[in-house]
Amino acid sequence: MSSALRAAVQQSRRSVFARSARYASTSAKAPTLKERLAELIPAEIENVKATRVAHGKKSFGPVLVDQLYGGMRGLPALVWDGSVLDPEEGIRFRGKSIPEIQEALPKAPGGSEPLPEGLFWLLLTGEVPTQEQVAALSKDWAARAALPAFVEEILDRCPPTLHPMSQFSLAVTALNHDSAFAKAYQEGISKKEYWQPTFEDSMDLIAKLPSIAGRIFRNVYGGDKLPAIDLEKDYSYNLANLLGYADKPDFVELMRLYLTIHADHEGGNVSAHTGKLVGSALSDPFLAFAASLNGLAGPLHGLANQEVLLWLRKMQSKIGENATDEAVRDYVWTTLKAGQVVPGYGHAVLRKTDPRYMAQREFALKHLPNDSLFKLVAQVYNIVPNVLLEAGKAKNPWPNVDAHSGVLLTYYGLDQMGFYTVLFGVSRAFGVASQLIWDRALGAPIERPKSYSTEAINEIFKDKTA
Ligand SMILES: CC(C)(COP(=O)(O)OP(=O)(O)OC[C@H]1O[C@@H](n2cnc3c(N)ncnc32)[C@H](O)[C@@H]1OP(=O)(O)O)[C@@H](O)C(=O)NCCC(=O)NCCS
Repeated sequence: MSSALRAAVQQSRRSVFARSARYASTSAKAPTLKERLAELIPAEIENVKATRVAHGKKSFGPVLVDQLYGGMRGLPALVWDGSVLDPEEGIRFRGKSIPEIQEALPKAPGGSEPLPEGLFWLLLTGEVPTQEQVAALSKDWAARAALPAFVEEILDRCPPTLHPMSQFSLAVTALNHDSAFAKAYQEGISKKEYWQPTFEDSMDLIAKLPSIAGRIFRNVYGGDKLPAIDLEKDYSYNLANLLGYADKPDFVELMRLYLTIHADHEGGNVSAHTGKLVGSALSDPFLAFAASLNGLAGPLHGLANQEVLLWLRKMQSKIGENATDEAVRDYVWTTLKAGQVVPGYGHAVLRKTDPRYMAQREFALKHLPNDSLFKLVAQVYNIVPNVLLEAGKAKNPWPNVDAHSGVLLTYYGLDQMGFYTVLFGVSRAFGVASQLIWDRALGAPIERPKSYSTEAINEIFKDKTA
């Protein structure tokens, strides 16, 4: 019975795709993202039902007591179709690797990096959008970009000594004031319709992030009056413009790449999972994503991009620029012996060099091959893995995404390291928002795993050998 049901679901999914292909070829106007989602959701609901009927009562392997104490590492606990992280190969967004999305997603006119608008479409639908569809998304986001005056005021009142990530989280929380989801819930919306106001909130959230980021940047680091959002330009251009870098086309291209590759890293990382968890209480996307940002602000997660630059600068001040490999190696050992981590290295899931690191390295080789800080990052790449292997603790001695992003931003003049994680946060909204929309569409329940006391664990396992 289950295989028959699955076949029916596959057929229904195929017909949705066939319908849409016909629609694309015969209709004058391609569907908007929301229209396309509305087409896809019913079949996916059936797919999840069929999967649960077929496999719902099967065990997903043993849970070790160590996993309860060990940050739930490797524990199968979540479902998210948008991206999957393979320990050896790295991230795939809806089945596509980073080089594949760089190839497949639409680019800006004259550009060669993927537009993050396209990644959002891909995360939500599993489909590569047309140039026309991403252009419509750019326009839609630009039209939604303005902040309520009181949110601007909250940001303007923050002391510049308050970390940009804390300001970011405050502003995103405050956007909940105008949440379509919160309002619809108060008005008694049916569960079946949850995804629609979640979609609208998510679009507003993503659209407003450049305005928040630009305002924080200006308030903390100084600068002129903020420019208006350009309704004819893409999201990354507008973000770069608000930061004062729109006159550097390579920086705008960097933003397109940066926002695309930082968007999602499957469902279990701290920011993605926090957003999903908080969203499961039906907190609206602003509240849920603000919680994600608070997790991203930790030095073992997103703040590592700030920490990498601080660490490199500290190293340069200790051993000088153009230091020998020997001196760099000694400095890495000094870090470890002081009981600190080498920021930008290691990963909870990955066991190879992060392909997001490689994508940024390729960007550096193309645009800044002779930059001295890039050369230092490359030198560190040749040294740190061997030291971590020799130290024998880290399960993954290879660099992650954060080991490379700061050097690219610094090259173009954005050397305000305290701001780096804000850019990561702008991008991470794409992944968190797409999870929230699908969770509400599929009726994901409130999350509530079981916790145990150490006393109970000792009691439960005292006579067990395995
Ligand atoms: C990412 C990170 C938090 C993953 O943690 P994890 O899954 O617990 O990693 P491991 O299982 O490999 O950790 C085993 C040990 O190696 C240590 N280790 C891991 N990465 C390390 C690093 N880069 N430098 C020094 N020690 C490291 C851990 O701190 C841990 O030490 P402990 O046993 O004393 O607690 C960890 O690698 C880290 O702290 N990296 C530096 C921060 C960073 O770059 N974060 C961004 C991640 S995208």
